[in-house]
Amino acid sequence: MAILISGGAGYIGSVVAELLHNKARNFVVLDNLSRGNSGSIIKNTPFYIGNIANKDLVEKIIDKHNITQCIHFAAYAYVGESVTNPQIYYENNVTGSLHFINTLLQKNVKQIVFSSSCAVYGIPKSVPVTENQPFAPINPYGWSKLIIEKVLESYASAYNLNYIALRYFNVAGATQSKGEYHSPETHIIPNILATANKEKSILSINGNDHPTHDGTTVRDYVHVYDLATAHINAIDYLQQEKKSNAINLGNGKGHSILELIDACRKVTQKDIPIEFAARQQGDPPILIANNNKAKTVLGWTPQYSCISEIIKSAWQWKIKHPNGYPCIS
Ligand SMILES: NC(=O)c1ccc[n+]([C@@H]2O[C@H](COP(=O)([O-])OP(=O)(O)OC[C@H]3O[C@@H](n4cnc5c(N)ncnc54)[C@H](O)[C@@H]3O)[C@@H](O)[C@H]2O)c1
Repeated sequence: MAILISGGAGYIGSVVAELLHNKARNFVVLDNLSRGNSGSIIKNTPFYIGNIANKDLVEKIIDKHNITQCIHFAAYAYVGESVTNPQIYYENNVTGSLHFINTLLQKNVKQIVFSSSCAVYGIPKSVPVTENQPFAPINPYGWSKLIIEKVLESYASAYNLNYIALRYFNVAGATQSKGEYHSPETHIIPNILATANKEKSILSINGNDHPTHDGTTVRDYVHVYDLATAHINAIDYLQQEKKSNAINLGNGKGHSILELIDACRKVTQKDIPIEFAARQQGDPPILIANNNKAKTVLGWTPQYSCISEIIKSAWQWKIKHPNGYPCIS
C-alpha cells in the first residue's frame, strides 16, 4: 500500500513527502517538474517525471506500487498568471486534474486529499472565514480549484469516492531541508527575505489604502510543516472514517504586510527597503481562516502559531540554500 503524491517535487508536496518518509510511510511522487525541483526529491524514494494527465503512466504507477490513496498537489498556482493566461490554468488544473481523478477512480483509488485554496471564497463576506461561506472566486486560479472540488463532490456521491479538500490560506516557512523556491517567486515572505538578502533592491507593496488597520492587506500565514501534518491527518481520516469533507487550513491569525516586514527585519536584522504601488484589483483586504473544523475533524493544531518562528525557518533555509535546490537530472 502506498500514497501517490502528485506535485511532490513542489514546495508543499516535498514537505509532505519528507514527513511521510520520516514516518516510514510508503509513497510515490509524480511530478512533471514544470514548476517543481528535482533536487527536492528524497534520495532513493520512488519518483516519476510525468504529467498527471498521462493515463498510461498513472495506471502503471498505481499497479506497480499498489497505490490506495492520493494527495493531489499538482497544479499551477500563480494567481496573477491565471488572470493573464487562464487557458493554461483551466487546461492543467481542471482538465489535467479531471483526467487524473478519472484514472484514479478507474483503478479503484478512491481516497483523495486535494490541495484547494482560500481563493474559492474570493472576497469573503466575513472573517475569520468559515467553510460554509459562499463560494465566489475572483480569478481563474480560484475557479480552477472550486471546479475540482465540485468534481470531487459529485464523484463522492456517485462513485463511492472519499475526498478531503484542504483549503490552504498563505503557506510559508521551511523545514531543515525543504523550503520554498519558485521562479518567479510571487509569495510575499520569500520576496521580503530576498530583499533583506539584497537579491531585490526594493520591495514593492500593492496598496497602502486597503480598509485595514495600517492600509496593507492582512493574511493568515500557516507553517508548511503544520500544513503537512494536516495532510497526514487527512489521509488517516479518509482511511478510518471513509467520509468526505472540505476544511480550511490556516493559523486563525492575521498579519498585515507592514507587520510582516517588521517581523522580517527583526528576524534577519537586515534593512528591507519598501515602496508602495497601486492596489491589485480584487485583492481581498483581509483573509483569516476559522480553523475550528480542522481542529475538530482532523485533530489538527498548528505548532508554529508565531509569525517570527515561521519567518525564522524560511530565513534559515534561505541562508543554507542560497541558490535553491540543486538540479538533479
Ligand atoms: N503555496 C501556497 O500558499 C498555496 C496556497 C493555496 C493552495 N495551494 C495549492 O497547493 C498545491 C501545491 O502548491 P505549491 O506552493 O507547493 O506549488 P508548487 O508550484 O511549488 O508545486 C506544484 C507542483 O506541481 C507540479 N505540476 C504542475 N502541473 C503538473 C502536471 N500537470 N503534472 C505533474 N506535475 C505537475 C509542478 O511541477 C510543481 O512541482 C497547488 O495545488 C496549489 O494550488 C498552495
